[in-house]
Amino acid sequence: MIILAFESSCDETSVAVAEIDGEKYKILSNIVASQISMHTLYGGVVPEIASRAHTEAISRLTYEALSDAFVTPEDIDIVAVTSNPGLIGALLVGVGYAKAWAYAHKKPIVAVNHIKGHTAAAYYSHEGLKAPFFALVASGGHTSLIDVKSPTEYVTVGHTRDDAAGEAFDKVARLLGIGYPGGAAMDALAYEGDEKAIKLPSPALADSIDFSFSGLKTAVINYVNNERQRGNEISNADIAASFSSAVVKAIISTLEKAHGMYRYETLVIAGGVAANSHIRRTAAEFAEGKGIRLCIPDRSLCGDNAAMIAAQGYHEYIAGNLADSSLNAYACQVT
Ligand code: KG4
Ligand code: ZN
Repeated sequence: MIILAFESSCDETSVAVAEIDGEKYKILSNIVASQISMHTLYGGVVPEIASRAHTEAISRLTYEALSDAFVTPEDIDIVAVTSNPGLIGALLVGVGYAKAWAYAHKKPIVAVNHIKGHTAAAYYSHEGLKAPFFALVASGGHTSLIDVKSPTEYVTVGHTRDDAAGEAFDKVARLLGIGYPGGAAMDALAYEGDEKAIKLPSPALADSIDFSFSGLKTAVINYVNNERQRGNEISNADIAASFSSAVVKAIISTLEKAHGMYRYETLVIAGGVAANSHIRRTAAEFAEGKGIRLCIPDRSLCGDNAAMIAAQGYHEYIAGNLADSSLNAYACQVT
């Protein structure tokens, strides 16, 4: 089955074509147009700018995705589009365009939840991966622990109570002036610092499998402000290393606690933050120690992209979850 998929929930416009049948997942094209340079000036995503940029890009990217995949509109079996959660104006561009494309070419359309899409990216690089599995999705907007009972039935069993993990990486990176979004820069810089240099609070909560990243972020801000006021030199590398270590330890201890509760045999870690090399390495050690099958998408598929939406769209279609022309976009999670 050949799927044309659209992703426009935040600051990446992406169109992909994938061929998926049974347990075979193949990306034929996956074009991602990042808007990062348009938002850098503001240090965060400006929703109105994001919507306009999606509108300008989506038609051209669709032609490119079809031509890179060597398919024509007639070859497409279904259309998949991210409908929630995300920035409402940004989502509406993708949903409106996908509905129009599906109507014009008389193709069925399915709506995809962005978070389910992130986990579905793991199907491409882990042959035979099948629900049930346990998932951690950590991105710029979400940090959720999910009991995935079937390819389409996701039960969130833990989440962040404030900032998302990626948001915390980005805010600390911004404070240190090392770029936006700062996750990848923090990842690299952490190798040059001492993770024991600064004592920071853990974002893992003792009484649950929820997280709280805001206290950790505030502790870093207070540390930097105090040291600057005292005229002391601060080491960005030590901050990056100490911060990364606190995040990694909290994620692993929470996954361990969740393993005690859910006894999962397969673990998927997905979302932009799953590109983090320290998390990937430590999670691999943790999984090996427990005999868990660990499935993390290729780094290139951790950030927002439409191939992941195609993979989840396939499962929604197989489950009979078809949408129609009344399909709407929702800023909050609805499916
Ligand atoms: O999934 P994603 O592309 O967009 C959302 O759905 O939010 O995730 C983007 C987030 C950003 O916060 C970015 O800083 C973070 O993923 N990120 C990383 C790394 N690469 C991207 N965080 C930590 N380490 C990385 N290597
Ligand atoms: Zn995302």
